[in-house]
Amino acid sequence: MTHHFSSSVQPLNIVAVSGGLNTPSKTEALVQAVLNELGEATPINIHFIKFSEIGPLLGGAIYRNQLPQRVQDDLAAVEAADALIVGTPVYRASFTGLFKHFFDFVEQTALVDVPVLLAASGGSDRHALVLEHQLRPLFSFFQAQTLPIGVYATDRDFTPEYTIQSQQLTDRITLAVARALPILEWAPAKGQRAELVKVKTEQANQNLGINKQIEQEEVLPSVAVPSLDAAESRLHPKNLKTHVA
Ligand SMILES: Cc1cc2nc3c(=O)[nH]c(=O)nc-3n(C[C@H](O)[C@H](O)[C@H](O)COP(=O)(O)O)c2cc1C
Repeated sequence: MTHHFSSSVQPLNIVAVSGGLNTPSKTEALVQAVLNELGEATPINIHFIKFSEIGPLLGGAIYRNQLPQRVQDDLAAVEAADALIVGTPVYRASFTGLFKHFFDFVEQTALVDVPVLLAASGGSDRHALVLEHQLRPLFSFFQAQTLPIGVYATDRDFTPEYTIQSQQLTDRITLAVARALPILEWAPAKGQRAELVKVKTEQANQNLGINKQIEQEEVLPSVAVPSLDAAESRLHPKNLKTHVA
């Protein structure tokens, strides 16, 4: 019998981003819980970007080369990830400004087809749709594969020490990871993305700013996906010159 995830499987390079600015942070605890659950199910390497650490380093920069090396490395990790787990606190009914600022620096074709698990923590149940109305459109812009189940937590889900106390939330994390696994298995550029995006990342670190995008030559190939040109020519047979008089 073959197992889906035998020890010979190359670990997935997972990059987690928590937009929580506080220490301790509920968002960080939530993202960590998702990582723990995923790590139980499949081998993963983890690069965990915590805004509680890099938040103050982000605000003053409008070009990537103005960012400290550490943050440039974090952006490079995001661009090279096999999959992302992103979490933000809800601020004024959306992601935080710094969370958006960070993703404004991410090269705009680097996340094509990359699976992204969405998570958020808020003070109120009534803002749970921040996942669908704020986070999902942001990652749709990147043509990422936002995963079907996101995870939302409120203050009530946590103990005063910021560990998760709610069975409902724990179950939701399990469901989100279970639904993610088949997609993560399908999408695995598994380490090859790092090589593919390297040049773009280096260029981005040189001159990518909020007001200046890199000239786009082509959409980055997602390793497991068939050529977009081939797919389009099937959809538009006229491109095959069938109408020549
Ligand atoms: C500036 C600010 C704005 C906030 N706005 C909202 C909001 O609109 N809706 C909500 O549910 N919670 C809101 N909250 C509460 C936080 O989202 C919530 O406490 C979150 O879990 C904090 O995450 P952290 O522990 O990772 O910092 C806000 C908090 C702050 C500081």
